[in-house]
Amino acid sequence: MRAAVLGGGPGGLNFAISLKLRDASHDVLVVERNKPDDTFGWGVVLSDETLGNLHTNDPVSSKAIRDSFVYWDDIAVHYRGVVMRSGGHGFSGIGRKRLLNILQDRARSLGVKIEFETEAAPVDSYKDFDIVVGADGVNSRVRAAYADAFKPDIDVRACKYIWLGTHQKFDDAFTFIFEETEHGWIWVHAYQFDADTATFIVECSEETWRRAGFDRMNIEETIAACEKIFARNLGGHKLMSNARHLRGSAWLNFNRVLCERWSHKNIVLLGDAAATAHFSVGSGSKLAMESAIALASYLDSEPDITSAFRRYEEERRLEVLRLQNAARNSTEWFEDVERYFDLDPVQFNYSLLTRSQRISHENLRQRDPQWLSGAEKWFEQRATGHVPNLARPPMFVPFRVRGVELANRVCVSPMAQYRAKDGTPNEWHFVHYAERAKGGAGLVFTEMTCVSPEGRISPGCTGLYAPEHAGAWRRIVEFVHAETDAKIAIQLGHSGAKGSTQLGWEESDAPLESGNWPVLAPSAVPWSAQNQMPREMTRADMDLIREQFVRSAEMAALIGFDWLELHYAHGYLMSSFITPITNRRTDEYGGTLENRMRFPLEVFRAVRKVWPDEKPISVRISAHDWVAPDGVRPQNAVEIARLLREAGVDLIDVSAGQTSTRARPVYGRMFQTPFSDRIRNEAGVATLAVGNIYEPDHVNSILMAGRADLVCLARPHLSDPYWTLHAAAELRYDGMKWPKPYWPGRDQLYRLKSRSEAMTGKV
Ligand SMILES: Cc1cc2nc3c(=O)[nH]c(=O)nc-3n(C[C@H](O)[C@H](O)[C@H](O)COP(=O)(O)OP(=O)(O)OC[C@H]3O[C@@H](n4cnc5c(N)ncnc54)[C@H](O)[C@@H]3O)c2cc1C
Ligand SMILES: Cc1cc2nc3c(=O)[nH]c(=O)nc-3n(C[C@H](O)[C@H](O)[C@H](O)COP(=O)(O)O)c2cc1C
Repeated sequence: MRAAVLGGGPGGLNFAISLKLRDASHDVLVVERNKPDDTFGWGVVLSDETLGNLHTNDPVSSKAIRDSFVYWDDIAVHYRGVVMRSGGHGFSGIGRKRLLNILQDRARSLGVKIEFETEAAPVDSYKDFDIVVGADGVNSRVRAAYADAFKPDIDVRACKYIWLGTHQKFDDAFTFIFEETEHGWIWVHAYQFDADTATFIVECSEETWRRAGFDRMNIEETIAACEKIFARNLGGHKLMSNARHLRGSAWLNFNRVLCERWSHKNIVLLGDAAATAHFSVGSGSKLAMESAIALASYLDSEPDITSAFRRYEEERRLEVLRLQNAARNSTEWFEDVERYFDLDPVQFNYSLLTRSQRISHENLRQRDPQWLSGAEKWFEQRATGHVPNLARPPMFVPFRVRGVELANRVCVSPMAQYRAKDGTPNEWHFVHYAERAKGGAGLVFTEMTCVSPEGRISPGCTGLYAPEHAGAWRRIVEFVHAETDAKIAIQLGHSGAKGSTQLGWEESDAPLESGNWPVLAPSAVPWSAQNQMPREMTRADMDLIREQFVRSAEMAALIGFDWLELHYAHGYLMSSFITPITNRRTDEYGGTLENRMRFPLEVFRAVRKVWPDEKPISVRISAHDWVAPDGVRPQNAVEIARLLREAGVDLIDVSAGQTSTRARPVYGRMFQTPFSDRIRNEAGVATLAVGNIYEPDHVNSILMAGRADLVCLARPHLSDPYWTLHAAAELRYDGMKWPKPYWPGRDQLYRLKSRSEAMTGKV
């Protein structure tokens, strides 16, 4: 086979080597515009896993790479005058130039022809070659020339960065330095890559960059300014640039590249040309080199080029996507970092270490148990005021708000049971809530309990508007208080245009087959074409509904509920005031966000007046309508939360969606938690996170990183009412209070866990 490789970076060179290793008779040409020693950029980070893959492919070059590596284990974070250091992270670095020289030598020794200082010609000039590999980096011309086939998607990210080097030593840790300047925060990613040189990437927001005047500086001026800002960390050493080839100041925005296809006819894209990963997860070279190996082996094993390209793309696309997801989380963390500058250094550090969501709480325990235990102690001390002898996982740390203390931070999320008759809870509800309260969660929410018969979602919904409702709820609340440590919250709501619909397991949100009741909404906008047209509410309707909420809140207070939540999410009445999709009013209750919030805030204030001072009120909102471009988006949710906080709401329960049939949600693990993070840290209000959170590790990571104050789990509590007790056993935390009659079950569970630990040697 004759292969023309356009671009001699880590991707192109490793491909050339890999192809030759598989069959020495292949004729491989690499075309590279630079000289062999003429490399830009500084050090490259590779993981142990990548080194293993390189070794299996080519022990010769991988040995040379390994021999040139600088290893380090710690991550150090300089922030607000404190240096925090955690270990067990295991990185290795090599100079980009050294890496390329090793690969060039190896390629040449295998008979690869490399033409340096040669600009690649248009692809059709390589007619004599069987394949053309576009390994020409992030600004690939090959990709651009066939953009119609590859369909690239290039996302220019928000931050500005510049890749510098220094002889200052950062040889004991991968180092992040955050420095507050008069123009804003500027930070550095620094790591050693040979005996006397380290990479020093400076990054900041575009606004800070402009305010600091970097947009008007040449490279020398930029370097001088950075040396001044980071003088304390540079110990008198200079900063250096080797990017003199770049026009202007050498500051860049990171380009996230995706391509719909990686091959076209006999042309194939490789490395940064096909897909990039942000430098903050340090994996661009890894991706390029591992993809190169995959491409060469499929060309060797598959019967023809087309199927080789297909297999290559199938295999690598998955891995690339996985890394790009992590890289996106990490990129966004740095783009949003100003949100975290109010966090305590311990929590800031934790948030930074877990930013890509690839590293969880228990991963950190494995990496550096001592550091994690210190962080857990800090978390507990902040909540309780006492320094514990033994750290406990964050989910088991009590939470206090007003006069209420929750024993731990796990909540049973509100879940409609559709089992009531005329709004009255019955034996089903008693057993259901009693079981969940026995299961160890700190707070158990009731399902959405409706403030009037017309405010019910379905005929099976519970209510709190009649004396028999109060009696049934009181029985449940008294059991929870008498027999468990859990607190119990009532969620009050009104269904609005989503009312008069079928039970959850029938056709959800569809009208009843018979016996429908008329529905109300801020505007005459039906939930869907098959739902009834709601009547637009008058001011008199608003007065009535506000008073219904007040009446139910008064009843809940008398019953002895510990906590009240107002359901302002999921398209029900209050939510349909908040979102512009369903609120089309032209009076003072529609239009701007302030207007749309007017009635929901009025209801909250009226409820707050009758709800006991020592008890909290949370409000559940939909932080994202998932309807572009007109729906509520997370940035609007911050404003909604701010208005609620200013009115006196204690916590925001951050859910999302279910506000429009046009919604296109993006699901995933913990998919709504970023909205909680944003609201908590931008609006400065305590939050509950919810949505596809199902492992103890998720809960601990969310709490410890300050992404929420409490965590709600819904479906996991349907399959396991004792989720919290089981999580404690899983984490070997023995501070949970089990119901006395269940002690033998507890003892057996812990014994079995210890035994299986001993057998697997996990102690
Ligand atoms: C300037 C620069 C500096 C970098 N520094 C670092 C760093 O210090 N640390 C790190 O971890 N990552 C760094 N990266 C990112 C990382 O190196 C990439 O993710 C990785 O190199 C991808 O490998 P690649 O082979 O796909 O692309 P590249 O390494 O970008 O290689 C592409 C090669 O193609 C050549 N080329 C491009 N167009 C043409 C053309 N028309 N004709 C001939 N040759 C062409 C380029 O000169 C280059 O050598 C840097 C990237 C760049 C572009
Ligand atoms: C059966 C069921 C009923 C629900 N009913 C309510 C409800 O009454 N009020 C509410 O705010 N959310 C309700 N939800 C949403 C959950 O509280 C939660 O936000 C959602 O299920 C995501 O959490 P999970 O991934 O832990 O299940 C319900 C969810 C389920 C599965």
